[in-house]
Amino acid sequence: MPADTNAAGDIFGGWVLSQMDIAAGICAGQRAQSRVVTVALDSMSFIRPVKVGDILGIYTHVCELGRTSMAIHVEAWVRRDRIGLREKVTEGKFKFVSIDKHGNSTPIPHEDELPDYVRDGV
Ligand SMILES: CC(C)(COP(=O)(O)OP(=O)(O)OC[C@H]1O[C@@H](n2cnc3c(N)ncnc32)[C@H](O)[C@@H]1OP(=O)(O)O)[C@@H](O)C(=O)NCCC(=O)NCCS
Repeated sequence: MPADTNAAGDIFGGWVLSQMDIAAGICAGQRAQSRVVTVALDSMSFIRPVKVGDILGIYTHVCELGRTSMAIHVEAWVRRDRIGLREKVTEGKFKFVSIDKHGNSTPIPHEDELPDYVRDGV
């Protein structure tokens, strides 16, 4: 929407980045089955601008798994002006840590401990 644009009239990079962080956090939280926090943004490439009226879609998967941390690969794609061409606009790697109710890092469950609906989805 126009309220999300930068001075050049394209969608502000920080807005796109925050949508990617939200999407990656959902993916990480499902894999960890817990609360997660972002600890690092390992890489981020803005490939093409996002324009007012584009539909933004964000796709995530777990690409690295540690003891309490994981990396999520994130791609953002647009459909230009709602009905036009599809283009990849950004990609990045976000790192999350699984935390307990006290805010301390906590182990991520093994894959075979996950419910089927989570194993199939991430
Ligand atoms: C996440 C947090 C609890 C981790 O605390 P910590 O004392 O560093 O925890 P640990 O030393 O046990 O490390 C936990 C894991 O995080 C990883 N890690 C911690 N900081 C990291 C960083 N900056 N970059 C990459 N990995 C990091 C460690 O390698 C470890 O991974 P592993 O268990 O898979 O081997 C703490 O750093 C924190 O609360 N950070 C703020 C998070 C936040 O507020 N995010 C929103 C920012 S707007």
